[in-house]
Amino acid sequence: MLLRTAFATGFLATAANAWNTDVHNQIGFAAETYLTSYTTSILQRILEPQYLGSIGRAAAWADSYDHTDEGAFSYQWHWIDSSDNPPAYCNVYYNRDCTAGGCVVSAIANQTSILRGCIARAKAGELTNGTDTTCSNALKWIAHFLGDITQPLHASGAAEGGNSYNVTFGGVETELHAVWDGKIIYSDANVTKFSNTSISPFFKGLVEKSILDNFPVPTAEWTACSDPSTPIECAMDWARDSNAWTCDYVYSQIYNGTDLVTSGYAKGAYPIVELQVSKAALRLGTWLNKLVMEEYNKDRQVVLGNVPSWVDGPSAGE
Ligand SMILES: *[C@@H]1O[C@H](CO)[C@@H](O)[C@H](O)[C@H]1NC(C)=O
Ligand SMILES: *[C@@H]1O[C@H](CO)[C@@H](O)[C@H](O)[C@H]1NC(C)=O
Ligand SMILES: *[C@@H]1O[C@H](CO)[C@@H](O)[C@H](O)[C@H]1NC(C)=O
Ligand SMILES: *[C@@H]1O[C@H](CO)[C@@H](O)[C@H](O)[C@H]1NC(C)=O
Ligand SMILES: *[C@@H]1O[C@H](CO)[C@@H](O)[C@H](O)[C@H]1NC(C)=O
Ligand SMILES: *[C@@H]1O[C@H](CO)[C@@H](O)[C@H](O)[C@H]1NC(C)=O
Repeated sequence: MLLRTAFATGFLATAANAWNTDVHNQIGFAAETYLTSYTTSILQRILEPQYLGSIGRAAAWADSYDHTDEGAFSYQWHWIDSSDNPPAYCNVYYNRDCTAGGCVVSAIANQTSILRGCIARAKAGELTNGTDTTCSNALKWIAHFLGDITQPLHASGAAEGGNSYNVTFGGVETELHAVWDGKIIYSDANVTKFSNTSISPFFKGLVEKSILDNFPVPTAEWTACSDPSTPIECAMDWARDSNAWTCDYVYSQIYNGTDLVTSGYAKGAYPIVELQVSKAALRLGTWLNKLVMEEYNKDRQVVLGNVPSWVDGPSAGE
């Protein structure tokens, strides 16, 4: 995968730019546990047969697609680079930060509105076996982006989402983005990677804890905004929620030059990543169930405006 900074120069790096692919798979498997059997059966018609009806298996596709020539347009849909300055101040604003070409917030809105039509066709029996690529891609993107938006450094523009913020983790030189994409959660789960075909004991535990509502933040707050007819509002809520961690922990608890493992930084971050991936899974399951059950306000329009007002001067925006 590519670093954002490296992408600009066309240089291939091995670092990740999203929750690692297996973390996305796990968020998807965890979300599956929240789906009704009816939702599962509808989604199965939308996905290509190779995914065996599993959004967990399909959740990592977006990270390979955006590195193909065909899918390069979706590269920047995985994050929103806010003009924040953690740890001094944190914020995300849609019209300021969602630049032309889109961001994770506009992509969630766009793909949600596409997927809504696909679900209607699947329910009517007009779509089976994942034969409509626009539809299967929309579902795979939703399964992916509702994960990405919970990674604090996917909702922060400082140091290019932490990609250019060098750190040491367990004696290894790396950068902060990669630490949050995988290193902390692997260390927490005591694994070197997660399965990409079934839910891991670690994520199973997180689902059980979510069902018992045993996190410091009640699950009702995670899904306080979960109406697929207001996707911009909800995705902005989720982005602000993630961005707040960059002031509250991600950049504020780093001690100059110390190894993030021996300093206690990694351990202190365990509850945060556990909470964030658990939010991703519950929101994803809830979003898809609501879309399938049509529990949304059909009269409201999906608002898609991602042309920042400053692009062509102060008067050019909307
Ligand atoms: C799981 O990972 C292996 C090794 O990277 C890969 O070959 C396989 O295609 C992946 N399977 C799925 C379902 O993503
Ligand atoms: C919405 O997504 C489709 C691909 O599914 C893409 O062609 C289109 O440009 C996107 N629209 C916006 C406004 O990003
Ligand atoms: C869907 O795929 C299955 C298995 O490949 C096949 O038996 C079935 O006829 C297909 N259905 C349609 C509508 O294409
Ligand atoms: C971070 O490390 C990379 C190489 O690992 C180096 O090229 C870059 O200059 C470093 N950045 C800073 C801000 O020290
Ligand atoms: C982590 O896993 C290794 C190898 O599976 C095991 O030896 C070790 O005891 C585990 N550590 C913890 C804290 O569970
Ligand atoms: C951090 O460490 C570097 C090198 O050890 C030093 O030059 C710099 O002044 C330190 N910064 C702070 C804020 O202590």
